[in-house]
Amino acid sequence: MISEAMTGALNKQISLEGYASFLYLSMASWCDREGLDGCAQFMHRQSEEEREHMLKIFEYLSEVDGHALTPAIPQAPHEFDSIQELFKEVYKHEQKVTASINELVALANQENDHSTSVFLQWYVNEQREEEALMRSILDKIKLIGTGPQSLYFIDLEIEKINAAELAAEEAEA
Ligand code: FEO
Repeated sequence: MISEAMTGALNKQISLEGYASFLYLSMASWCDREGLDGCAQFMHRQSEEEREHMLKIFEYLSEVDGHALTPAIPQAPHEFDSIQELFKEVYKHEQKVTASINELVALANQENDHSTSVFLQWYVNEQREEEALMRSILDKIKLIGTGPQSLYFIDLEIEKINAAELAAEEAEA
């Protein structure tokens, strides 16, 4: 049986993952409007991933006799200054999620809740990978620079990264 405090903390994480899903969906829509099809595909896939992260906690709470609650999602922004700023925001949000996961692990350990601690290890690894991915994208964007046709090359790069992520997901499945 999971504690009330741990259930509450996991429900907060559900809210954070749900917000990430909607934020990335909003970003996908912005990219689409700007003609950045590769970036739009990438953000759609990220949005779907975040929904899966959210549902994973629903399933876990149900398994340990907790009560998962559908979150009230704050309105995500609809406009972004540039594709560079958009990816900076993604990175910032992922860092926020990592900090939250670390707090959850600390709480689980404090409560001697080894089951939740083990469950959360998947998120610890996922966050390390997500942050590394976003840093590599920001590095690429910096390398391409802001010269003529830079948006075209950024979009091409993100399209390639998205294809690699999809292939990796399929290999895991
Ligand atoms: Fe599920 Fe990328 O945080």
